[in-house]
Amino acid sequence: MTTTMSYFEAAQERLRALQARGEATVLSIETSCDETAAAVVKNGRQVLSNAVYTQIPIHRQFGGVVPELASRNHVDQVGPVVETALLDAGMTLDDVDAIAVTGGPGLVGALLVGVSYAKGLAFATGKPLVNTHHILGHIAANYLTFPDLVPPFTCLVASGGHSHIIEVADYDRCVLLGRTRDDAAGEAYDKVARVLELPYPGGPELEKLAQAGDPRAIRFHSAFNEGEGFDMSFSGLKTAVINHLSNAKQRGETVNRADVAASFQYAVNTILSDKAVRAAVENGHGTLALAGGVSANKNLRQMLAQKAEKRGIRFCCPDFKYCTDNGAMIGSAAFYLLMKGHIADLSFNAVPYLPIA
Ligand code: KG4
Ligand code: ZN
Repeated sequence: MTTTMSYFEAAQERLRALQARGEATVLSIETSCDETAAAVVKNGRQVLSNAVYTQIPIHRQFGGVVPELASRNHVDQVGPVVETALLDAGMTLDDVDAIAVTGGPGLVGALLVGVSYAKGLAFATGKPLVNTHHILGHIAANYLTFPDLVPPFTCLVASGGHSHIIEVADYDRCVLLGRTRDDAAGEAYDKVARVLELPYPGGPELEKLAQAGDPRAIRFHSAFNEGEGFDMSFSGLKTAVINHLSNAKQRGETVNRADVAASFQYAVNTILSDKAVRAAVENGHGTLALAGGVSANKNLRQMLAQKAEKRGIRFCCPDFKYCTDNGAMIGSAAFYLLMKGHIADLSFNAVPYLPIA
């Protein structure tokens, strides 16, 4: 019998006991991009602690995430952040029932730090290990905020790496209804923010600037998004902004940057909200949820809330603290994976591109 087998057999035994009990306290680790995060979550819904070390100040000076720096900082921080999560929850490693980690998608070197650390903890304690999809985590941020939310529902996931419209058929089963054909919504926000000379990460900075602007000042148009399907495209809008700015420069005109920000935000959020609400209606879902870093955008939340209400659909979005990357969302998603028996042995690897469905 190999060492891996004996670990996995022990973990399977513990899993069966947890499934019989229907309860589990999960220690979760998230290192897919530029936040080193860990949390302790009970039964998928109760956050006992949520520790996040953000690397944003480190990457800001380079205008974006530097993957090698992200990995190195995760190595430095993952131990202290896990310790903080346990301390804040008033627990030791003995008190948790399972270990969860984001296995992908994300930056491979960054993911590997969390995956290796989680494997070490699982092997040392014999506790079940849950390999959790990052997007399933973002979706689960809604379970933390709405205790009564259960699948099925439609979810718009808009982050730095993804723009998906998903049918959340079950806690462990998603059907992809639509996706971006090029840039993710958050990526488009960040790129346009950079053109407007705003610091990284651009999304929240652009939102701030847009508050002083007129969303109807400039019409940034994208023909692709007028189609009946649920796929989206954001790179055309980004190019439209760049063209607008360079045309103005050539003519020697001064540009109202706040108007550009507000008009761009309006254009992106209109596409996201129109498509997502229509997907929920056509799916016959009474609930539409929002997830991913861009879910922190107040204008997007308002647009979705209003359009959903008009169609008689309940709208859910996560608490602000669970919008961008965090450990609690991974702990919530992992609980349901655990209860459905999805545990990993020690052979799985971090995967940078990992489809959700
Ligand atoms: O989910 P997340 O933390 O990381 C990924 O999984 O990608 O999302 C980060 C993305 C960045 O592109 C950031 O600019 C965007 O979410 N973002 C926002 C806002 N807050 C974060 N975009 C628009 N408005 C915001 N308030
Ligand atoms: Zn994310």
